[in-house]
Amino acid sequence: MEPTTVDMHDDKQAEDFFAVYHAAHVADTPDEPPPLRDEFLALGRQESAEVRTAFEAVYADNEMVGAGMVVMPTIDNTHLADVKIWVRPQHRRRGAGRALLAQLTRHARDAERRTLFAQALGPVPGGPPRDGAGARFLEAAGFTAVLSMVSRRVDLTGVDAAAEQALLEQCLPHATEYDTVTWDGTTPDPLAAGVATVTNRTNTDAPRGGMDIEQATLDARRLHAEERQWLDAGSQLVGAAAVHRPTGEVAAVTSIGVRPSGDHGRIRTTIAHPVHRGHRLGTLVKIEAHRQVRRLFPQLRYVSTSNADANDHMVAINEKLGYAAYQTGTNYQRRLD
Ligand SMILES: CC(C)(COP(=O)(O)OP(=O)(O)OC[C@H]1O[C@@H](n2cnc3c(N)ncnc32)[C@H](O)[C@@H]1OP(=O)(O)O)[C@@H](O)C(=O)NCCC(=O)NCCS
Repeated sequence: MEPTTVDMHDDKQAEDFFAVYHAAHVADTPDEPPPLRDEFLALGRQESAEVRTAFEAVYADNEMVGAGMVVMPTIDNTHLADVKIWVRPQHRRRGAGRALLAQLTRHARDAERRTLFAQALGPVPGGPPRDGAGARFLEAAGFTAVLSMVSRRVDLTGVDAAAEQALLEQCLPHATEYDTVTWDGTTPDPLAAGVATVTNRTNTDAPRGGMDIEQATLDARRLHAEERQWLDAGSQLVGAAAVHRPTGEVAAVTSIGVRPSGDHGRIRTTIAHPVHRGHRLGTLVKIEAHRQVRRLFPQLRYVSTSNADANDHMVAINEKLGYAAYQTGTNYQRRLD
């Protein structure tokens, strides 16, 4: 089973690649919103200054049955290679995944990467089934579990507005020196540098277990370029920040990506700068961002988020806001020697 490089600018190859991803997604996580073709193809075809991506596929009887990609950061964390692999359900356990992983690993070695990352989903008690094949596959391939994540989602139609307001009012006395700001689209220019600085801490301030990851080095220009890529692919972005009035510093930020179909949002990041912790800013920015998505996207049902299991503080905030666990996501890594 020899993988073939996929050219995402070739319509047939790109469509086939998406079809494999879609088929695997629908079979494995039918409760999740399915990937969107136009968005996936737009993202797959974008030139990015931030990452280099290689796409590979395996075929059986002229049908693409497995698809994989490796994403390699080019500015910071240049030692990493993030691997994603999908195999059509009826073609599993025939070596397609292993062949793809070997080929994606070759790309990573050629680019002098030190560490492969991958993520595998698992079930939570009372949640939808997850078969655990990804974890078995990665473990068989020599990967080690380095960080346990839990995905949660909130049903916005079930939000108790009075309880949300009460929570906001409990937080405000702790945050008298801060103003909150919300926006949609790209981060407003005056905030962009501060938002980039605080966002950079996400990799290292949130619990990272044994992950071989370094602080990011985004600045305003790179933040805006990254946001524009999502917007160009059809997503909407909503943000909220807390600004420290005496210094003008961005103290906390959260960002929600709303997918092009407008039915589902995902928290991209939530972080408070260590200097400004203890002022309930994480809760405040999340409430403001929720209110902003409800105003702008009345049809939006779910917002999901993923946090390290050990991130007690963030998890407590999310649970107060109505997020409930529905799956685990274990981060795996393998060192390339
Ligand atoms: C994980 C996945 C890619 C595996 O693809 P695959 O083509 O079935 O994998 P392979 O046939 O190459 O399996 C290689 C080895 O992984 C292990 N493995 C794979 N699936 C397994 C399962 N369901 N149970 C136990 N072991 C499994 C086995 O050791 C297997 O070798 P063997 O069949 O000789 O025993 C596929 O199940 C899939 O698309 N899952 C959804 C997406 C995902 O989780 N991707 C992995 C993270 S990137």
